[in-house]
Amino acid sequence: MSKIQVLDPHISNMIAAGEVVERPANIVKECVENSIDAHAKEISIEAYEGGIDKLVIQDDGEGMSREDAKLAFLRHATSKLKDEDDLFNIQTMGFRGEALPSIAAVSKVVLSTSDGDEGSRIEYDYGELKGQESISIPQGTKIEVSGLFYKTPARFKYLRKASYEFSVIADLVNKMALSHPNIRFRLFHNDRLVFQSSGKGNVLEILYQMYGKEVAENAVPFKAKNETFKLSGYAIQPKINRSTKYFIFLSINDRLVRSIPLQNAIIETYHNYMPPNRFPIVLLNIDVDTQLVDVNVHPNKWEVRIAQQNDLIQLIKETINAAFTKELRTVEISPQKEKEKEKKVVQPSLMEEMREEVQEVDPIENVYEQSMIPKKQPTILEELKEEVREVDPIENVYEQEEPFQPIISEQSYEYPIPIPKKKEKGHAFFDHLRIIGQLRSSYILCENEEGLVVIDQHAAQERYHYEQLQKELMQLDPKKQPLMLPLQVHASPALIAHVDTINEQTEPFGIHFEVFGSDRLIVREIPLWMQCEQEEEFLERLLDFFMEHLRVDIAQLRKHIVATMACHSSIRFHRDLSKQEMEQVIKDLQKCEQPYHCPHGRPTVITLSDSMLRKEFERG
Ligand SMILES: Nc1ncnc2c1ncn2[C@@H]1O[C@H](COP(=O)(O)OP(=O)(O)OP(=O)(O)O)[C@@H](O)[C@H]1O
Ligand SMILES: [Mg+2]
Repeated sequence: MSKIQVLDPHISNMIAAGEVVERPANIVKECVENSIDAHAKEISIEAYEGGIDKLVIQDDGEGMSREDAKLAFLRHATSKLKDEDDLFNIQTMGFRGEALPSIAAVSKVVLSTSDGDEGSRIEYDYGELKGQESISIPQGTKIEVSGLFYKTPARFKYLRKASYEFSVIADLVNKMALSHPNIRFRLFHNDRLVFQSSGKGNVLEILYQMYGKEVAENAVPFKAKNETFKLSGYAIQPKINRSTKYFIFLSINDRLVRSIPLQNAIIETYHNYMPPNRFPIVLLNIDVDTQLVDVNVHPNKWEVRIAQQNDLIQLIKETINAAFTKELRTVEISPQKEKEKEKKVVQPSLMEEMREEVQEVDPIENVYEQSMIPKKQPTILEELKEEVREVDPIENVYEQEEPFQPIISEQSYEYPIPIPKKKEKGHAFFDHLRIIGQLRSSYILCENEEGLVVIDQHAAQERYHYEQLQKELMQLDPKKQPLMLPLQVHASPALIAHVDTINEQTEPFGIHFEVFGSDRLIVREIPLWMQCEQEEEFLERLLDFFMEHLRVDIAQLRKHIVATMACHSSIRFHRDLSKQEMEQVIKDLQKCEQPYHCPHGRPTVITLSDSMLRKEFERG
């Protein structure tokens, strides 16, 4: 007798369930995708105890006939694929014919559905058909799932607290609503409505609900295309940022996807505009011929393979960059009271276990960040006891470890943002500044139509030098100036041993080291761009960099040089400036491509608006 047996369908469904159903949120995803494929206009999701006790997903889609309802629970039974060609041209969310049998294998399922002609109710208990009956209901489908993993304790054990499980569901439903703004979504937890979208196609309305008014107001729309890809979405101004990457929403042909290369492309574009370790909020939808995307990578359908990915990355970078440059504004300080109010509207959106997204540490970035960030500088914002960034919802959920209670009122889901007042933005902003004076030898105070404008003189100069240097260093082999007295720097034996390798890399930038004695390197002439007050210190930092990375590519080295130099040659944080010097700082800043943030992403300019001052002084 042969040893090999074809597995019983129940066992193969259990195996498939292992990949498809890990937690309640996976069931929500599969069922909501089925509703989307059935062209539903309204989808409601009810979760009880984080979906561990029960989930009910209901839609007003096409529904199923009695016969289809039964077939739907068979493995590899699908209405969405007919032949091999369809597999390479997938237009629907589902296509594997695996979700329902997988869910039914590990829980109790009751499906009620009607295609408008006939209605039926079908019941499964841990893979076993319990019965089917005719019922009379309006067109659409309702699926109730309870007792998840009760018969598979090993899996049950891995479920987390109800509040956590619900937060994953809430995050997912938020994202699905964002990528399908024409569908009306409603999400309930323990019978309480926690999220709803109007289904009127307004993405800003959903953003407003998820993250509050400030995010929605600072969302810059973008659209772009090349021969292959069409992009659309919203890039939130970098002054509003988060401590995790989970706020970058990617969808391809309306399918939510995860893609580290695309995510990194977005993060890189924001890099210069944002403090270290902060991440942007971006919504990006990509439309592309379905034949160029392979969605059949993993049963959970989160990952995709995209043809011509490098072209896509280039297009994403250019598009988001162009969106900012047009719309960059100063950081505006809002009154404390309003912030409090805002926090209440902000709905904690939540963490998914994206284990594959372990944050890689870039050693070069690290050196750059550490060496460049001045030790704790007092900021005017701190002095004003103002919290610039709003509370991060994810951090919050984690800190509180309390049941997740998003706040939403029945009326608040319509997008109530008044059309924002026209504010000066881009480079024209600097044309209308009138200098009032200097504060604490550190800040230039100006006024304009909007109110009080505060410029951080150090950050402003850092930005200017950074951009200037970047330009100069693009031209290799720069002009040099001989020194009367050579510069000397201390060097370890390891560095001295590698001086030729180091020179190979620094010579294109005009720096040549010579060995001098047993523990010193000297430089006899320096490039013009290197002239600054602390040239030796700069060379030391450069050598420190080579201690960590003996071989770097030219772009990395350029980045390091630019970052270190920009810091060295800026006006000191505390320094009295004459009116002319202040004017020069402003003129220089205006010349910058990106004047509103220093190279580390901190703001260079903030505005305290007249209306905010009036409010604070209670002048109405
Ligand atoms: N809400 C629904 N409305 C109408 N038909 C549905 C609904 N849910 C499921 N179906 C039908 O049941 C079939 C099986 O669903 P199932 O989710 O198991 O597979 P699929 O969506 O085809 O593929 P995948 O496993 O990739 O999700 C679907 O192809 C569809 O015809
Ligand atoms: Mg499906």
